[in-house]
Amino acid sequence: MTDTVALITGAARGIGLATATLMQAEGRRVVMLDRDAEELEQAAATLPGALAIPCDVAVPQQVAQAAAEIEQTCGRLDILVNNAGVADFGPLAETDFARWRRVMETNLDGVFLMSQACLPLLSAQGGAIVNIASISGLRASTLRIAYGTSKAAVIHLTKQQAAELGEVGIRANCVCPGPVNTKLALAVHSPEIRAAYHDAIPLNRYGTEREIAEVICFLAGSRASYVTGQVVAADGGFESTGVGLPALR
Ligand SMILES: NC(=O)c1ccc[n+]([C@@H]2O[C@H](COP(=O)([O-])OP(=O)(O)OC[C@H]3O[C@@H](n4cnc5c(N)ncnc54)[C@H](O)[C@@H]3O)[C@@H](O)[C@H]2O)c1
Repeated sequence: MTDTVALITGAARGIGLATATLMQAEGRRVVMLDRDAEELEQAAATLPGALAIPCDVAVPQQVAQAAAEIEQTCGRLDILVNNAGVADFGPLAETDFARWRRVMETNLDGVFLMSQACLPLLSAQGGAIVNIASISGLRASTLRIAYGTSKAAVIHLTKQQAAELGEVGIRANCVCPGPVNTKLALAVHSPEIRAAYHDAIPLNRYGTEREIAEVICFLAGSRASYVTGQVVAADGGFESTGVGLPALR
């Protein structure tokens, strides 16, 4: 496994950093990519040997440059984890086009651009793509007109990738995390949202970065070699609880 290479986007913190850490612990060479260059440098310093690439996944030229750097430095790519994401919660009436685009350009365009740029490298290895969506892409709810729609699109994009790329040996799967206490969630989860999540989730708690990373690493690795086109909710049971009334759980 030591010569396999895994690229994780949005790896400077949160779920992306936990995934990079676990990938490295499993013996892979890790490439960490993030648009926050300063935080990325600090995070990469905790994983000796990791390659850190400052890059905005929504900017085609930067994405092409990142893929070229990986080819030059590592010579191969086995795993792409499209994890970089932004959350901006607001109702339809208050979501102007600029706000809509800010969410879409990272959450959806970024997954498209990174996957396309990495395709030649991945297909040389028969690699794996893991896209990070959200329970907000599985169940609609208030304030998520842009975020929820972007994540639902990522779920379908994953299925498109699986349908098309299977014949070149690339698997594509999607992880839908439930709430995790990262900087992203802290910014948009009000005390009311936090209380409601605790109430509505059968396991009655937020998940941890590590719990999400474990599912990502499973789907990326050889133990999932016959799994493609699947959507796995790592969400404490939230998605499976039907109408969501506590008394009807
Ligand atoms: N935390 C949650 O509750 C939760 C729930 C469901 C889904 N998710 C998804 O998990 C993923 C990781 O989220 P997190 O909670 O760890 O967030 P986070 O904010 O802690 O980390 C996200 C990282 O992505 C980077 N990033 C953002 N936009 C980027 C871009 N355009 N190019 C490159 N890097 C960019 C940020 O700089 C940051 O380091 C996201 O896709 C998010 O939507 C999170």
